Amino acid sequence: MTHLLEIRNARRTFITPEGGHLAALDGINLDVGANEFVTLLGPSGCGKTTLLRAISGFETLDSGTMTLGGADLTALPPFRRPVNTVFQSYALFGHMTVARNVGYALEVAGVGKASREAQVAEALEKVGLAGMGARRPSQLSGGQRQRVALARSIIAKPRLLLLDEPLSALDRNLRQQMQLELKTLQHALGIAFIFVTHDQEEALTMSDRIVVMRSGHIEQIGTPREIYRHPKNRFVAEFIGETNLFPVTIDRVDGETALARTAEGVEMHLPSAGRKPGEQVTAILRPADFNLGPTGIPGTVTRAVYLGSDLYLFVQPQAGGPEIRVISRDGAGFDEGAAVHLAHDPARVHVLEAA
Ligand SMILES: Nc1ncnc2c1ncn2[C@@H]1O[C@H](COP(=O)(O)OP(=O)(O)O)[C@@H](O)[C@H]1O
Ligand SMILES: [Mg+2]
Repeated sequence: MTHLLEIRNARRTFITPEGGHLAALDGINLDVGANEFVTLLGPSGCGKTTLLRAISGFETLDSGTMTLGGADLTALPPFRRPVNTVFQSYALFGHMTVARNVGYALEVAGVGKASREAQVAEALEKVGLAGMGARRPSQLSGGQRQRVALARSIIAKPRLLLLDEPLSALDRNLRQQMQLELKTLQHALGIAFIFVTHDQEEALTMSDRIVVMRSGHIEQIGTPREIYRHPKNRFVAEFIGETNLFPVTIDRVDGETALARTAEGVEMHLPSAGRKPGEQVTAILRPADFNLGPTGIPGTVTRAVYLGSDLYLFVQPQAGGPEIRVISRDGAGFDEGAAVHLAHDPARVHVLEAA
């Protein structure tokens, strides 16, 4: 696959007010395909915005290279890059109509009125706002304003759209609706999106690939499924979704599975591939990977929370150690104080080499 965007060893260090050095980008390597939806995910301050600003040209790199369609991107000033950005604050001009907001870049570029109007109408149509051009931003809902910002950002037909936490100001329902709309729009436009969020659920829902960042570097790049099922390390495992981590020692290997035990004595079964008795590893199981049944880890329910059709349980293992989080589909009456057994399929256990 040839990539639209190729970033190699990108570095950017800031001098902090205290006089220290802060590596906001600490050697970033990233490829983005021509019609790919890539999400940058990571805690606040990990360098997501700095990376987007470097791509759009509003920030320079200290070193490293960026190419778009094979051409050096860093040689171009921001307005010459076939890239546009959608911000969280939509930055719409309140005194201008929707149509003028959307067509403003074309107006500044001296595009004639007739051509401009046609392109504005096309962009509004694409985001589902046909016929709304005469309104002012204040006469629109939050979701509609978001769409105006989108229409404005795609009017110049960029090859790459950068979206910096565009949904974080919206309420939950609208946000979920916009997640689907954005994904559909990206597909219809056939261009690449680099979307920034610190919300792991949003990243899992929308992305072709997720880039997990931390302190200026990339911890892991993968499909939502790879990142969720096969996190490379504890940071990724804990950042992406609810998880149970068990530091265990392998006790014995029986064919396909191995028996392992935590320091407290909680017993787990894991895939035996490559495991040896005495080895220390971390076993990872998601809350939905446990089944409540007659066998398995014995424990007591300390808290039961109803989440619609699911039941969310905190279970204190009888042997001791941290509580185990469990999501159960069969919402039968498991109340606080109930004795349960937590069974799991050994094949569902993801094993990290380090304990
Ligand atoms: N212009 C700047 N001057 C000094 N420090 C900056 C500047 N821009 C960003 N930083 C610092 O770089 C780090 C990464 O910031 P940013 O890319 O905005 O993170 P994110 O978008 O992931 O929250 C943060 O510690 C931030 O304080
Ligand atoms: Mg940011």
